Amino acid sequence: MRRIPWVIKYRPKKLDDVVDQETAKEVLIPWIKSWLKGAVPEKRAALLYGPPGCGKTSTIEAIANEFGLELVEMNASDYRRKEDLDRIARVAALQKSITGRGRLILLDEVDGISGTADVGALETILDIIRGTKNPIVMTANDPWDPKLRPLREVVLLVEFKRLSKTDIKKVLKNICLNEKVSCDEDALDFLAERAEGDLRSGINDLEAVVEGYGKLSLEAIKNLLRQRDREYEPFEVVRKIFISKYAWQAKQAAQQTDLTPDELIQWINENLPRQISDPEDLWRSYEALSKADVYMGRIVKTGNWDLLAYATDLMTAGVSLSIVNDIKSKYRWVKYTFPQKVLLMAKTREVRQVREDLASIIARHLNISRSTAKSDVIPYLRVIFNSNPEVAAKISIGLNLSEDMIRYLSQSNASKIIEIMNKLKSVRGGTGEVKKTKQSRSEGDVKSVKTKGGALDKFFK
Ligand SMILES: Nc1ncnc2c1ncn2[C@@H]1O[C@H](COP(=O)(O)OP(=O)(O)O)[C@@H](O)[C@H]1O
Ligand SMILES: [Mg+2]
Repeated sequence: MRRIPWVIKYRPKKLDDVVDQETAKEVLIPWIKSWLKGAVPEKRAALLYGPPGCGKTSTIEAIANEFGLELVEMNASDYRRKEDLDRIARVAALQKSITGRGRLILLDEVDGISGTADVGALETILDIIRGTKNPIVMTANDPWDPKLRPLREVVLLVEFKRLSKTDIKKVLKNICLNEKVSCDEDALDFLAERAEGDLRSGINDLEAVVEGYGKLSLEAIKNLLRQRDREYEPFEVVRKIFISKYAWQAKQAAQQTDLTPDELIQWINENLPRQISDPEDLWRSYEALSKADVYMGRIVKTGNWDLLAYATDLMTAGVSLSIVNDIKSKYRWVKYTFPQKVLLMAKTREVRQVREDLASIIARHLNISRSTAKSDVIPYLRVIFNSNPEVAAKISIGLNLSEDMIRYLSQSNASKIIEIMNKLKSVRGGTGEVKKTKQSRSEGDVKSVKTKGGALDKFFK
């Protein structure tokens, strides 16, 4: 049974749970306390800076927990629109909380603000800081970025240190003890060294090894790393498909990627005309590719996954064996490019909105911040959704996810997941199919998310 990811399970709940970072705590605690006494300190905002995975965001969450503060947070993707900053951060900054509780405003990863795309975001933040009645805390990896200079001048700078190997080892060992998995000292050493001060990646590595091998040993780690190394970059996969002499080579190349079949089609589609110049070769290989695309469409429509083998054959062997007139062109070195369609998708507002809504649902459910949902839970869900449609379907029912969200988590498995969901629902006597439209953020939905948590309770035990 899947569990809650360890980076979430072992997130600090109190300040004492935050390992090391004593100097940072010594600065932050009195600053927060002076706010709580009703004073407005000279610096109305603090900027917590330091390398990734050393406890910046979790320290702020722990402070909010420990002092009973209402946490209002925004994340890098929210800064794009000035209206959002005004609507969320400015409103929260100017009003005292209605509940009478204190309020803490977190602007996470402000170095993610781009100088050009988010014109006005920094000025807006500066302006909000000037008038705020509540403490504002920001985080950044690199505070010396020139664009952050005006910000640097008005904030309390709080340094977070890269965690030491000893500290990381200690945390990893504790997790092993708590999870009752056996761990070898040399394996712990290896993981702690590899983490390079980033506890998030240390914990994730540990979980991956334990999940795969049931224990932590050097051998298990090496096995896992070897497996990871076998995954090729998209560019390499496309190249391998083109230069294959035999069908099996082309098919094998496709297995060594974590691209979905749809994505792989797009990669080939984008780069085929760069590699192949003979018009007849090009025509034949496009024929094969478009047939693969038709099969993929049929799979998505009907949920018949037996067709996937044909689609894969066509997009790999079908394409590479179509090149016969000008064989030499296969071996030419050309620079490949990223598929435009993928680029476009990643950019659209809609996709971002789906991600935001998804993060809100997860955050509510696990009682974590939205930024943590985005950085630590969504990637984990992606792995599950791409690898195990059954479990994915149960989670989707438990969280009441919309079709868009499911598609966001796994483009290739989405139809399969939805089909399983509908089956599960009819078995349980439930009504209604999966919602086609976007999840609305209304309170009604929030409630239904909470009460339908049956499947998820099992999942997140
Ligand atoms: N100082 C720390 N003490 C305890 N756990 C930590 C610490 N730093 C990182 N972690 C672990 O790593 C994960 C990521 O930490 P986070 O605070 O989000 O890092 P960041 O500095 O990137 O904001 C947390 O969920 C927690 O499990
Ligand atoms: Mg963070």
